[in-house]
Parts: sequence; C-alpha cells; structure tokens
Amino acid sequence: PKRVRVHHLAEAKARGEKLAMLTAYDAVTAAIFDAAGMDILLVGDSIGNVMHGHATTIPVTVDDMIPAARAVARATKRAFVVIDLPFGSYEAGPQQALETAVRIFKETGADAVKLEGGLRSVPQIRALTSAGIPVVAHLGYTPQSENLLGGPRVQGRGEAAVESLAGDAKAVEDAGAVAVVLEMVPTDVAARITEAARIPTIGIGAGPHCDGQVLVWTDMAGMTGWSPRFARRYAELGAALQQAAQDYVAEVKDSSFPDEEHSFDR
Ligand code: KIV
Ligand code: NA
Repeated sequence: PKRVRVHHLAEAKARGEKLAMLTAYDAVTAAIFDAAGMDILLVGDSIGNVMHGHATTIPVTVDDMIPAARAVARATKRAFVVIDLPFGSYEAGPQQALETAVRIFKETGADAVKLEGGLRSVPQIRALTSAGIPVVAHLGYTPQSENLLGGPRVQGRGEAAVESLAGDAKAVEDAGAVAVVLEMVPTDVAARITEAARIPTIGIGAGPHCDGQVLVWTDMAGMTGWSPRFARRYAELGAALQQAAQDYVAEVKDSSFPDEEHSFDR
C-alpha cells in the first residue's frame, strides 16, 4: 500500500474523505491498525496513562516516547505516524521545541510531531515547520494543561471561549500546522472551525463534522472497564483477554495444557 504522506491529509479534506486515526504504542498493535487501513497512527503521550500506569500525561518524557515511536514506525507500512511532544519538552520556546523534535525525527522515523496549544505554541509551530518538521496542533481540552483546566472538561462552551478557540485554530493553521486535533469541543463549534480551516480537523469528543476522528485504542477496543463518553467501544478485548488468561491458568493448573499437539516427540 502507498504510504500516507503529508499532502494526502489536505487532499482527503478537499475530497471530503474522512481521516481515521488511532493511538498506538508498540509494534504489535501498530501492524494491526495499519493493516486495518488506519490513515494516521498517533504515538500519544497518553502512553503515560495507558501503558505506564500514570494518572496523567504530565510525567511522560521524551525518553518514554522514543522507543514507542520507533516500534510503531517500524511496524507501519502505510499510515502517517505522528508522535506527541510530551509535557516540558517544547513549552520553553521554539529552540527547545526544535531540539526535541529534531531528536525525535532523527531517532524514530515519525512523519510529524504533535503539540498542544494555540496562540501560545505559534512560535514553536513556525520553528518546526521552517525546519521541515510537520506539526499537528491540539486544541480544546489539552491534557498536559489538566491542572489549569481542572481535569477533562468540554472546552469552548461560552461565546468568548468559542472566539478564542476559533482564533487558536486560525493561528496554528497560519503558523504552518498540517492538521489540528480538537478534543472535547461542542459539535457546532468543531463544525464551525472545520468549515473555516483549510487544514483537516481531527476530532475526539468533538462531534461528527470534523475532517477525521481519533481515539485512544484501548478505549475503542474496550481494554479497560471504563471508557470516556465520547469513545465507542468497538470490542470488549479486555474481557476477552482476561477470559483467555483465566482459561490458560485453569489448564496449567489441571495439566490439560500442554497436550501432545503442543509438545515435541524425540
Ligand atoms: O495522547 C493522545 O492519545 C492524544 C489523543 C487523545 C489526541 O493526544
Ligand atoms: Na496527547
């Protein structure tokens, strides 16, 4: 299959073709999602919550992200691979952002980086874009600011908040962002931003009118008991895996595994 390259994102928007995006943190899931036809794989800093057992994305480091991004990039034949810049690796300014993103590009084979923030991140987006590193922006609920935002809450509800969100979307586009994630934004606000934007919007809890959708894979696959309201559970893999593990325990205990089929003759 032909690789998804940066210009295909804008082309998809122009054609009205929706972009499908999921997170991935390792080679085994990346290969599965790539084979399923995913357009974009995100090595999200949600790796902190999902894979490393943290309560938030705040503790995630570049050193956590790099091995995951390498594994995903290696296992991917078609999808466009985006890696998050974790909290503390870009906020200080364009130079810090450039140092982080250059290291990530050299060491992982990712196609783009993602960072949070609108107007406040414009200098970083410009610097990375000038250096040839495509940037995906992330607006609305931005988990790295969860302490300031008071946790996962819908953003852009009041008229002032709508104006500020629309201004942020325009600012990241003008700075060179190649796409923008809208997280936990009311449907009509996301629709308005999508219509105004030349770059694709990718929604998560932002309604059906975005140019694409993204979910954390463990949420959509039902790996854990709880998923956020905006995530549809397309499978119950957590329960299925627990059942498989339980069956294995029982068969080891009663010596029904391994049988002849799974053993070697001399
Ligand atoms: O880290 C992540 O998984 C994300 C998506 C939820 C957009 O940033
Ligand atoms: Na993220």
